[in-house]
Amino acid sequence: MSANPGEPARHDPFSPEALDPLPCFQAWFAEARALEPNDPDAMALATATPQGRPSVRMVLLKNITADGSFVFYTNAQSRKGEELRANPNAALCLHWKSLRRQVRIEGVVSEVQSQQADLYFRSRARGSQIGALASDQSRPLNDRVTLEARAAEISALYPAEVPRPPHWTGFAVHAHTIEFWQSRADRLHDRMLYTRIPGGWERCLLYP
Ligand SMILES: Cc1cc2nc3c(=O)[nH]c(=O)nc-3n(C[C@H](O)[C@H](O)[C@H](O)COP(=O)(O)O)c2cc1C
Repeated sequence: MSANPGEPARHDPFSPEALDPLPCFQAWFAEARALEPNDPDAMALATATPQGRPSVRMVLLKNITADGSFVFYTNAQSRKGEELRANPNAALCLHWKSLRRQVRIEGVVSEVQSQQADLYFRSRARGSQIGALASDQSRPLNDRVTLEARAAEISALYPAEVPRPPHWTGFAVHAHTIEFWQSRADRLHDRMLYTRIPGGWERCLLYP
């Protein structure tokens, strides 16, 4: 089963020719972007406290680096940001319903360079930039009026360029494992787990 008609077999995670999960992910992601009606870039991000208490929420995948890091942007002072500062281990899960596919990624997180965060922040819509400044993400909010008043104040304060708040930044999950799951008949699904080893990846088929 090819990942995409016309794609080389090495981009199909189940092909014997696939040695690197990153082009396989890119091929699946391209198909998801073409087919999923909503948020093909949405992924669940799991974090945990140093004591191992987990939490999970959705974030958007904004970039995949050549070295296999999956980048999202958020408020570093949010619950997820604080958990990642105390425990940089994270897991991601993407589910593309129309394609009946799942990808699970586990790895260690680091913050992106501030220039990269600036670049991405500048590419966002003005309303989103103002929202990033106005929101004390994950903190209690008295009422919605307070949030809207803060957004209006910030908009008046910065009629031209909105500066990136230093705590709003990108996090890169450097993948240690990437698992591809494809639904098959009778729940005999395909699963292929890629694990990073020095200089490359090893892979292993898993029971569904
Ligand atoms: C589809 C979807 C995409 C989202 N993308 C992001 C995102 O990229 N960054 C972000 O900070 N929050 C995003 N959110 C909101 C988070 O799920 C979450 O509510 C927020 O970041 C606070 O999480 P925390 O309190 O665990 O830190 C998204 C929510 C949904 C439903």
